[in-house]
Amino acid sequence: MSAKRENFGSRMAVILAMAGSAIGLGNIWRFPYMVGEHGGSVFIIIYVAATLLISLPVFVSEVVIGRRSRSNALTAFWKLSSGKRFWKIVGFLPIAIPLIIASYYSVIGGWSIDYLYKSAAMTFVHTEPSQVSAVFDSFVTNGAEPVLMHLLFLLFCTLVVSSGVKSGIERFSKITLPALFVLIVVIAVYSISLPGALAGVRYLVKPDFSALTPSTFAYAMGQSFYSLSLGMGAIITYGSYVSSRENILASSAGTAVSDLLFAILAGFAIMPAVFAAGIEPGAGPGLIFRSVPYVFSQMGQGAPVISSIVAAIFFLAVVVAAMTSCISLLEVGVAFLVEKFSMKRWHAGFLLFFLCGGAGVLCALDGRVFDGFDYLASNILLLLMALLAVVFVGFVMKKEDVRDELTNSGSLKGSGTLFPVVYFLIRWVAPPAVVLIFISNFIL
Ligand code: PHE
Repeated sequence: MSAKRENFGSRMAVILAMAGSAIGLGNIWRFPYMVGEHGGSVFIIIYVAATLLISLPVFVSEVVIGRRSRSNALTAFWKLSSGKRFWKIVGFLPIAIPLIIASYYSVIGGWSIDYLYKSAAMTFVHTEPSQVSAVFDSFVTNGAEPVLMHLLFLLFCTLVVSSGVKSGIERFSKITLPALFVLIVVIAVYSISLPGALAGVRYLVKPDFSALTPSTFAYAMGQSFYSLSLGMGAIITYGSYVSSRENILASSAGTAVSDLLFAILAGFAIMPAVFAAGIEPGAGPGLIFRSVPYVFSQMGQGAPVISSIVAAIFFLAVVVAAMTSCISLLEVGVAFLVEKFSMKRWHAGFLLFFLCGGAGVLCALDGRVFDGFDYLASNILLLLMALLAVVFVGFVMKKEDVRDELTNSGSLKGSGTLFPVVYFLIRWVAPPAVVLIFISNFIL
C-alpha cells in the first residue's frame, strides 16, 4: 500500500474531474446518434428522467464506496464487505472492465485526432456526402493510420495519468473542461443559425410520442449510465480522492447536471446542422465522422478557411473530451497497481498503455473485435457492475455508514433531510430499474 493518498483540492476540482470523466465521446459522438435513432425529443425526456432518478443514485453509491474505503476499486469491495468471498470476486470486475473500454475508446479518440488534422488540412472543403463517406471508409480500412492515431491518443492519456492525480488529472481537467463548454456553445450557435436548421431544433424539443417504444427506455437508461461513467470503477476510484469535508450529494448532482447539459448542448450543436444539410438523423454511429465534415463544408461554401477552422475546433473538443474520459479509465488500473503491487505511477501507466494499446490495435484493425468489446462492456458488464455497486451500498453496507458518508457524520443538515429519499432510490428504485434494462437488452 502506498503511504499517502492524494485528494482532489476543492469542490470545483472534484466536479471538474468527475465531469471530465463523464463528458466524453458518450456525449458528443454517441448521444446525438442515439437521439437520432430513438425518436428525438422523446428519447431526451426519458434520458433526463433516467439520469436524475436512476443514474444519480448509482453515481452517489459509487462515490460512497470510493470515499468510505479510500482505496482502489478492488480493495474497496474487499475492505467494505469485511472479506466476504462473493464481494472479493466482484472486486475484480471494476479493474477489468475499464481496460476493455479503454482499448476501443482510444480507437475512436484516435479517429478524432485524425479528423482534427483532416479538417485543419481542409480535406473536406467542397465535398459531397458520398465523398466524405469515402474518406471515412478508406481511413478506417487503412490499417496503419487508425492504429497510429489510436496509440498516439493513448500515449497522451498515459502521460497525463502517470504524472499524478493533482498535477496531472486535476490540472488538466481544470483547464480543458470550461474551454470545452465554450467551444460547444459556439458550435451550437453556428449550427442553429444555418438555413433549414430549425427543423432540427424542432426535432429536439417537440415531443413525438408516436416514436416511443419499450426499447426507447432501455436505450435511454443505458446511454445515461455510459455517459456518467457508471459501472466501470472510474467513479469509485475518483470517489476515493474526494476529501472528507466534501458534500457527496452536491458534487454528484453537479456532475450529473453538467453531463446532461453537455449532452443536450452537443445535440443542439449537431442535430440542427444535420437537418440543414439534409442528412438522415438515424445515420448511426458514423453520424459525426461521415456527416459532420460535410456539414461544415456546406457551411463554408463561400468561406472554406473559416469553416475548416470551425470543424477543426469541433474535433479538438472531441479529442479533449475523450481524453479526460479515457484518463479516468486508466486511473482505475493505475490506482490498483500502485496500491496493490507498490508500483510506481509511471510503470503502472505504461503497463496499461501496452495492454490497452495492444488490444486496441486489434479493435482498430478489425471491426468485429471493436463491436464485440463495445457490446460486452456497454451492454453487459457495465450494467452488471452498476447493479452490484448500488446493491452493495443499499443492502451490504450498514445504513448508518452510508448516512455518515452522505452527511459527513451528521454535519450536513441539508443532506440529512434528503437522505431518506436518496436511500430509498438506492434500495428500491435503481436496482429494479437496472435489472429491467439488463433483461430488456436481451429480449427487445
Ligand atoms: N462517460 C464517458 C463518455 O461519456 C465514457 C466513460 C465510461 C469514461 C466509463 C469512463 C468510464 O464518453
